[in-house]
Amino acid sequence: MKKLILITSLAMMTLLTGCAKKNAHYYAKKQGLDFGFAVTSADILQEPNMTIVKENATMVVSENNMKNANIHPSKKFWNWSDTDHLIEFAKQNDISVKFHTLFWHQQNAPFILNLSTKEEALAAMDEHIEKIMSHYKGQIKVYDVVNEMFNEDGSLRQSLWYNLIGPEYLEHALIKARQCDPDVKLYFNEYNNENLGYAKSEGMYNLVKDFKARGIPIDGIGMQLHLDGTQPLNEDAIRANIRRYAELGLEVSFSEVDVRIPKDNPEAWEQAQQEVYCTLLKIALEEPNVKSFIMWGYSDNGSWVPGTFPGYGNALPFDFNRQPKPVWNAMLDILKNYKVK
Ligand code: XIL
Repeated sequence: MKKLILITSLAMMTLLTGCAKKNAHYYAKKQGLDFGFAVTSADILQEPNMTIVKENATMVVSENNMKNANIHPSKKFWNWSDTDHLIEFAKQNDISVKFHTLFWHQQNAPFILNLSTKEEALAAMDEHIEKIMSHYKGQIKVYDVVNEMFNEDGSLRQSLWYNLIGPEYLEHALIKARQCDPDVKLYFNEYNNENLGYAKSEGMYNLVKDFKARGIPIDGIGMQLHLDGTQPLNEDAIRANIRRYAELGLEVSFSEVDVRIPKDNPEAWEQAQQEVYCTLLKIALEEPNVKSFIMWGYSDNGSWVPGTFPGYGNALPFDFNRQPKPVWNAMLDILKNYKVK
C-alpha cells in the first residue's frame, strides 16, 4: 500500500512538474522553431535571469562575448571562458547556440584595427575562423559569418575587411568556414534587409543569389529586425522576400528582434508593438525556411535600445523587473496554439 502511495505521488509530481515546464521552450520545440534570446554573462549566472532563459529559449546567442574584441582581444590571447560557459549552460538545458559573429566592422580588437595589408588581413581572417570553429566543433548550430556588410543603398560597406581584401573577403570567409566545419549552417546577417524592394534587401538578395549560382557555401541570411513599433509592419514585403530566399534554397533567421516604442508614452503604443511581435512570430511559424526567432535580449533591463535610439525603449517582452508583459503572453499563446495550415 505504502509503495502504491509512493508511486502515485511520484507520478503526480512528474505530471505537475511536467505541466509547469510547459513554457516557450516546450512549445517552440513542438513547433520546430528555434526560439530564444541574445544573452549576457549575467543571464546565465544569476537568478531570475537563468530560469527565464532556461524555461523559454531553445536557441541562444551571446549579445557581445563572441565578438572579435571579446573573444580574441589581443593577438596572443583567446578569451574562451565566456562562450564555453554559455555553451555548457545551453547543453545542460537542451538549448542550441548561434555564434554571433565571426566578422563585423565594429567591436574589433586593436590588433585587428591595425592590420595594414591584404595578406595580413587574410591571415587574420583564416586564423579567426580556424581557431573558433575547431574549438567549438559540434557545439554550434549556426554561425553569423559576416555581420552588416551593406550600406543602406545596397552597395558593400567599406569595412576594414572590405578595404584591405576587397569584396572577395565575403566569399573567402564562407569557403574557409565550410572547410573548417561542414556540419554548421553559415549565415550572413544584416539590418533593414527584410522588405522586398528596399535597396539593402536587394543588395543582400543579389549577393547571395550570385553565391548560390557560383557554388559559394552559404546556408542562410539573418534579418535582424530591430524595429520601430510606431511604424506598421509591411507583412507582404517581408513574406515575399523570405519566399525568394526559399526558392534559392536558403534559410532565414529572425536574428535580433526588438520592437522599440516611445519612452514617454509607451501605453499608447503597446498594442501596435504586440501586433508587430505577433505578426513576426506567425510569419516565422508559417514560412518553412524561417528557422529561428531570436530576440535581442528579453528584458527592458539591459536592452541596448534606450542607449541607441534616443527617446525609445520598452522594446522587449519582459519589463524592467523581468516580469512578462501582455505581449509575452500573446506570443506564448501563439507558440502554444498556432497551427500552421
Ligand atoms: C550591440 C549590443 O547589444 C551592445 O551591447 C553593444 O554595445 C553593441 O552591439 N546589430 C548587431 C549586434 O549585430 O551585434 C548589436 O549588438 C546590435 C546591432
